[in-house]
Amino acid sequence: MAEYVGAIDQGTTSTRFMIFDHGGNEVARHQLEHEQIMPKAGWVEHNPVEIWERTSSVLQTALGRKGLTGADLAALGITNQRETTVVWNRKTGRPYYNAIVWQDTRTDSIAKALDADGRGDVIRRKAGLPPATYFSGGKIKWIMDNVEGVREAAEAGDAIFGNTDAWLLWNLTGGPRGGVHITDVTNASRTMLMNLETLDWDDELLGFFDIPRQMLPEIRPSSDPNLYGHTLEDGPLGTAVPLSAALGDQQAAMVGQVCLAPGEAKNTYGTGNFLLLNTGTELVRSENGLLSTVCYQFGDEKPVYALEGSIAVTGSAVQWLRDQMGLISGASQSESLAREVPDNGGVYFVPAFSGLFAPYWRSDARGAIVGLSRFNTNAHIARATLEAICYQSRDVADAMEKDSGVKLEVLKVDGGVTANDLCMQIQADVLGVPVSRPVVAETTALGSAYAAGLAVGFWTDREELRKNWNESKRWEPQWSEDEREAGYKGWQKAVTRTLDWVD
Ligand code: G3P
Repeated sequence: MAEYVGAIDQGTTSTRFMIFDHGGNEVARHQLEHEQIMPKAGWVEHNPVEIWERTSSVLQTALGRKGLTGADLAALGITNQRETTVVWNRKTGRPYYNAIVWQDTRTDSIAKALDADGRGDVIRRKAGLPPATYFSGGKIKWIMDNVEGVREAAEAGDAIFGNTDAWLLWNLTGGPRGGVHITDVTNASRTMLMNLETLDWDDELLGFFDIPRQMLPEIRPSSDPNLYGHTLEDGPLGTAVPLSAALGDQQAAMVGQVCLAPGEAKNTYGTGNFLLLNTGTELVRSENGLLSTVCYQFGDEKPVYALEGSIAVTGSAVQWLRDQMGLISGASQSESLAREVPDNGGVYFVPAFSGLFAPYWRSDARGAIVGLSRFNTNAHIARATLEAICYQSRDVADAMEKDSGVKLEVLKVDGGVTANDLCMQIQADVLGVPVSRPVVAETTALGSAYAAGLAVGFWTDREELRKNWNESKRWEPQWSEDEREAGYKGWQKAVTRTLDWVD
């Protein structure tokens, strides 16, 4: 009897493989970064072949570290950076172009054109998304319009699309030798091409982007007892392991945080921040700049939906301080530097590097540091960077409250930035509610493992998963109401300075 479940977490900057036991404890992991290719301002690409090679390596290394083999895995789940778009040839297995990453803004004119003539409102209604560069539909269209031969190959059924979940599933199950072309409902809900009510590709939406249906993967539940397929015996795991789950990484984190009841929410702090609220089987349409998205679908149950506040730049603003500005030598130094000052000294940093996502959806915005005086130092900039992470989360938390009527009582958090104690304290201060981090901080991979394990009976019910969730740390708000509101007013003023920057 296999004692473990594995999860591949294919993220924006790295791919990791994690192995969990029945208690939800981490048994082993390995992680490898991949190149961020930025050919022009606003363009961000990944090499899909590098991602597949890195995935194969992390699978083998993590297992090897504990002397395990594929036969020790009851099931394998995938979770992934969402929206990032790969188009490849099903006969050769070769991508036609680099993956266009979710942060890439090259499809701005496609998104603007959709909003100019009313098609944008159809997308909002059917797909739950505002037309934006963020989602896959425009990226697929860009590849078909700009890479020679792709449109013809797509019409002939040879060029196929997938987000990185589908790309890995296809490769794990044999690639050109008969790999499956499958995605799950959560990933499909990020394309602008799926109807949120039917959970199927929508012909009218496909028409907006000139995308032939045969290019698209089959949409399946996020946790599927019918299995998507098995890994190949001559593949990186060396044996046939059931592939039974796929979820976008933010949805997987909802499962890992056991936000499985309506009204439960979490905020994941990665490259960007993603605050999701479970709205149950009811599809709530946002009036305040949030996305409606599929949270998960387990087997043949009804899908569960979520409201999402997506913020493009948070952890990557700290990386920018390190890599582009040279203000800090490592991410943890953002905390020690920011601690040198008691407050932001009047400085606000709005890191609108990819425009502003939720709740603004302004691709014309660009980053700004405002409020500077001669008094300010690097420490104020570091503090303003941490505050920007928290104020952006406040923007989306407020929008969520307006849309759902649910008042946040505690914010469950996860992701890399939650190791930054000062940032989490500021988050509690800025929101005015406690912030709570679980013992297992890798909730994304854990959620994907849970979904994979539920499908094959490794875990029998959701109560088992709830019992595995334990708090490791809680931050209580310390600011007065006046401090909180004065700080937020300054942030809102700073945001106005970033708008209308790009014509
Ligand atoms: O929507 C983009 C999101 O899925 C990326 O997540 O953690 O790879 O930055 P992450």
